[in-house]
Amino acid sequence: MLILGVDIGGSGIKGAVVDTVTGELVTERHRIDTPQPATPEAIAAILAQLVIHFNWSGLVGCGFPAAIQHGIPKTAANIAPSFIGINIDRLFSEATKCSCYSLNDADAAGMAEMHFGEGVGQSGVVLLITVGTGLGTVFFSDGKLLPNTELGHVYLKNGKKAEHYTSDAVRKNKNLSWKVWGKRFNTYLMQMEALFWPDLIILGGGASKKFNKFNKQITVDAQVKPAAFLNQAGIVGAALYAQSKNTLTDN
Ligand code: BGC
Repeated sequence: MLILGVDIGGSGIKGAVVDTVTGELVTERHRIDTPQPATPEAIAAILAQLVIHFNWSGLVGCGFPAAIQHGIPKTAANIAPSFIGINIDRLFSEATKCSCYSLNDADAAGMAEMHFGEGVGQSGVVLLITVGTGLGTVFFSDGKLLPNTELGHVYLKNGKKAEHYTSDAVRKNKNLSWKVWGKRFNTYLMQMEALFWPDLIILGGGASKKFNKFNKQITVDAQVKPAAFLNQAGIVGAALYAQSKNTLTDN
């Protein structure tokens, strides 16, 4: 099935048409800067622009940087607080005239990796962390997803919130070398390991493309791998999610 997958991030909104059988993008990826402030109206307008760009009239899946319960954002770390409590599935569907289904962006990335990437066939506990403007997390236990974990917001032993200490945005803003940033990120991984003991940690988002620049700093026991999809997982996973929701509605 072909579905338009969209990854709504703190700095860019990226979309592509996805073949949900193969997990491949069947169009070029199209990126538009996230409007500032990232209000519901402004983001809905960008989605409408993407739908026109792809001349799209089918299902749309949206990875969104917040905890999402039944189409409603509950948090807003890197988007306008006015998103909290509104039904974005309804808002985006009205703006695009397509059926839109939204989920947390890290949950989307995890779905793609478990279906088609590094998580295929992985039993036990898998933790996927997206490293971008924020830190997104998702757990799978024997392949089953636990939605809306917000573990980029845990406080580290140094008193700092993890995503304010070791996101990709922090690396860029503070001009940290990969070595220094890698040490910071390892502190976070050590804390995740001490609390959850994952068998495998998959890294997605911007930093996953540069894994070879900081892998020497990583000392956790768990196996750590960059995502097979690098930073396209969010688009593919959002499409998979829309397909699963649509099948549920059809039946
Ligand atoms: C948000 C998460 C999101 C992550 C990555 C965090 O700030 O709270 O919901 O998954 O950023 O975008």
